[in-house]
Amino acid sequence: MSGKKTAVWDAQTWRVYKRLLGYTKRYWLVGLIALIGMVLDGGALAAFTQKLKPMIDDLFAKKDAYLIFWMPIWIMGIFAVRGVGTFVSSYGISYIGRNVVQSIQSDVFAAYLRLPAAFFGNEPSGQQISRVTYTSEQVASASTDAVKIAVTEGVTVIGMLYVMLSNSAYLSLALLVMVPAIGLIATMVSRRYRLISRRIQNMMGSITGAVDESVNAHREVRIYGGQQHEASRFSEVTHRARRLNLKIAATNASASTSIQTVAALALAVLVFLATRPDVIANISPGVFVTVLTAMGALMPSLKRLANVQANIQRGVSAAEDLFEVMDMPPETDTGHREISRTRGDIRFENVRLTYPRGDFEALRGVDLHCAPGTVTALVGRSGSGKSSLVSLLPRFYAPSAGRIVLDGENYEDYTLASLRRQIAWVGQSVVLFDDTVANNIAYGELAGASEADIMAAAEAANAMEFIARLPQGIHTPIGQSGNTLSGGQRQRIAIARAILKNAPILVLDEATSALDTESEQLIQQALQRLMRDRTTLVIAHRLSTVEGAEQIAVMDQGRIIERGTHAELIALGGQYAALHRMQFHDHAVGSGSD
Ligand SMILES: Nc1ncnc2c1ncn2[C@@H]1O[C@H](COP(=O)(O)OP(=O)(O)O)[C@@H](O)[C@H]1O
Ligand SMILES: [Mg+2]
Repeated sequence: MSGKKTAVWDAQTWRVYKRLLGYTKRYWLVGLIALIGMVLDGGALAAFTQKLKPMIDDLFAKKDAYLIFWMPIWIMGIFAVRGVGTFVSSYGISYIGRNVVQSIQSDVFAAYLRLPAAFFGNEPSGQQISRVTYTSEQVASASTDAVKIAVTEGVTVIGMLYVMLSNSAYLSLALLVMVPAIGLIATMVSRRYRLISRRIQNMMGSITGAVDESVNAHREVRIYGGQQHEASRFSEVTHRARRLNLKIAATNASASTSIQTVAALALAVLVFLATRPDVIANISPGVFVTVLTAMGALMPSLKRLANVQANIQRGVSAAEDLFEVMDMPPETDTGHREISRTRGDIRFENVRLTYPRGDFEALRGVDLHCAPGTVTALVGRSGSGKSSLVSLLPRFYAPSAGRIVLDGENYEDYTLASLRRQIAWVGQSVVLFDDTVANNIAYGELAGASEADIMAAAEAANAMEFIARLPQGIHTPIGQSGNTLSGGQRQRIAIARAILKNAPILVLDEATSALDTESEQLIQQALQRLMRDRTTLVIAHRLSTVEGAEQIAVMDQGRIIERGTHAELIALGGQYAALHRMQFHDHAVGSGSD
């Protein structure tokens, strides 16, 4: 059997499987106890079968008094041992399996926390979620259940073989029919399994993704009448998932059928051999029944052993996918200098950026100096590279050419964590966590902040005004992603977070673009407070908000095409002046109609 199995076990499969088993190492003691249980489980059945011959030939035929007394006790004893073995092995294996799943889930999750920003654009988020929820579960069956089956059924097979051979080597010849046939079936099944398993995994990702999107976009779905579309998209993926799962079921079922056919063939050969004239005289009914029973018991064990391959294959292809993610290079952090507090002197030197999956340069040679404590505004039409430029600062992406100098040092020399501590960020779409207002403001490394500091930050962000009206003040839980708050309120919480962080560098990427005039005024005030004494990079569509900036850089197609103060750029009469004229006109028309 095992010789046949190696046909589909290439080196890669072994590597993955060994690594998977590595997760079970810590539980070696439980494993050992479970292993003993498995041996008892499989062995007891063989021992019982071995007792059939004396039961038939001596107990009933000869009415042996010794056996009449002991046989019931043996039977009880054998099954008591088997019961203990079954319990210990089943529970022990589940114990290890659940622990392995948990470790793998946390390893994958840990990978998600340290992988670079580029990773998240590469794959649908459904895929990333189902890796933790579904794929991780698959490895349990491979790493543990499969071992249990292999050992228990392996012991049963060996035990039954022993029973057969010790009773009649001649009759055991019938077995020879089975060996190659079952080997062949096992090989075919596992080939097919491996093929289908990967596809099912991806399928699960698509299902998760479809649900995730429809749930998140429930408003868009309703407003734009997308129900039909979503329903058919979802039914398409579940349809494909069902088909794949049925393929697996068909593979299983046909393997069972084939093995039963082989078994019938073997039994027929057994009866044929036993009834040869020169044999039938020498074979006792006890021997015949024992061999017959042993062979009958061998079948389900062989069948399960054949399926174990499939289990392992499914787990291995799941593990392969998970290990791939765990092994992806984390964010590059070659920095060796800890920076405690930067002066905030930022210099972009001929910075270029091509996104990992992009086929064009999003930044094409940007030179920009942001002096400590000043405000630099980036303006320009959308897609001109403003967000790309600022996303280099916390090193979400690395420039493909050029460099960024912070306080006169290449910013890559600083450790990632200490560099990021220098930056506070308020983006266009505010991300809030499913937690209280206070914990959203004092998030991450800010978690130790005192309540007074949190209140002060909320106050400075003009957020206290609405927080005070919440049922439990700053301790009010806000729903996942802050569903219960308005856009302006969420924005102010994000600003409070940035204020509390009190970082020397501040990035505002269209922090006010989605707001109404009133909350914008509140937020502008809050931002003015926030910008004081910091090096600020602000991206804004509304030019009125950046007029006071020390310098304004106008971006176009990944380059800075104009730079200067508001007055200088107006005097220059270039693109900024044109934009300004346009917005002033809009504004005049807009306020006229108010
Ligand atoms: N993660 C990304 N991967 C690939 N291309 C991107 C990514 N983010 C932005 N881009 C592209 O880079 C260009 C600049 O985008 P961006 O910096 O967001 O512009 P802006 O903020 O000025 O509107 C755009 O053409 C955009 O499509
Ligand atoms: Mg942008």
